[in-house]
Amino acid sequence: MISEATFVRSAASAEDLPSDGLAEIALVGRSNVGKSSLINALVGQRIARTSAAPGKTRLANLYRVTRGRGRPLYLVDLPGYGYARGGRESAEAFEKLTHEFFAVRGVHLQPDPAALLLVDARHPGLSADVDAWRWLRQAVDRSAIVATKIDKLARGERIRALREFESVFDDPVLPVSAVTGEGMDDLWKLIEHLRPSSSNPAPDSRPNSRHSREETGRPRRPLRRPKNSSSRR
Ligand code: GTP
Ligand code: MG
Repeated sequence: MISEATFVRSAASAEDLPSDGLAEIALVGRSNVGKSSLINALVGQRIARTSAAPGKTRLANLYRVTRGRGRPLYLVDLPGYGYARGGRESAEAFEKLTHEFFAVRGVHLQPDPAALLLVDARHPGLSADVDAWRWLRQAVDRSAIVATKIDKLARGERIRALREFESVFDDPVLPVSAVTGEGMDDLWKLIEHLRPSSSNPAPDSRPNSRHSREETGRPRRPLRRPKNSSSRR
C-alpha cells in the first residue's frame, strides 16, 4: 500500500521547509509519546530517526509518504514537549516551537498544515496535553487527537482511559499502537480526512471547525477497538 516513504530532511529554519504544495500532517506531542514510532508504524518501515542530539533544537523532521497511486504528503515530526517536568513551562516551550512552524507555513504558498496531537493512552488529561490541544485548536484549522501505546492497557483500563480522554478533551480520541499496529487503518483514514482536498482549498471547504466536522460525518465519540483485536499489557 505504501509506495514511497523517505526521510527528507531535518528542517532547522523556514527555508528548509518544502514549497511544493504538498499536504503536511504535523505530529505533535510530549517527548517519548511515540511520534517517531507512529511514523514508522504508519509506513511499515523504520524511516523515522530517533533524537540523537537532545537539546539541539530543530524545527521539524520531514518524511515524504505516498500511499498507492495517491498524492504524496509530508508527515512532519515536530519537537516533543515537557517529558520530565510537564506543566505550563513546557507547554510554553512547545507553543514557541510549534508556533514557529505553523506561523512560517502561513506565509508560504503551501496548503495549511494539519496537526495530530499525540497523547499517551496511559495518562489522560495531563495539563501539558490539555494546554497543547487548546493552543492547537486555535492555531490550526484541521486537527485531531491520537492516543498512543494503547497496547499497554488491558480491556477495562482502556475503556476507563478513553472515557476520561473524552471528558477532558470533548473531542474524539483515536487509540493506536505502533507495536501491534492497532488503529493504523483508522489513522490513515483520519489523515486523508485532515488533508486538504486541493493545494489551495477555499476557506469554507475546510473540514476543521467543530461545526463543519459534524457535517462531514466524522464521529464525535472516541473510536473503539475492533472486536477481534487483543489487548496486551
Ligand atoms: P521524542 O523524539 O523524544 O520526542 O520521542 P517520540 O515521541 O518520537 O517517541 P518514540 O517513538 O521514540 O518512542 C518512545 C518510546 O516509546 C520508545 O521506547 C518506543 O519503543 C515506545 N513506544 C512508542 N510507541 C509505542 C507503542 O505503541 N506501544 C508501546 N508499547 N511502546 C511504544
Ligand atoms: Mg522522536
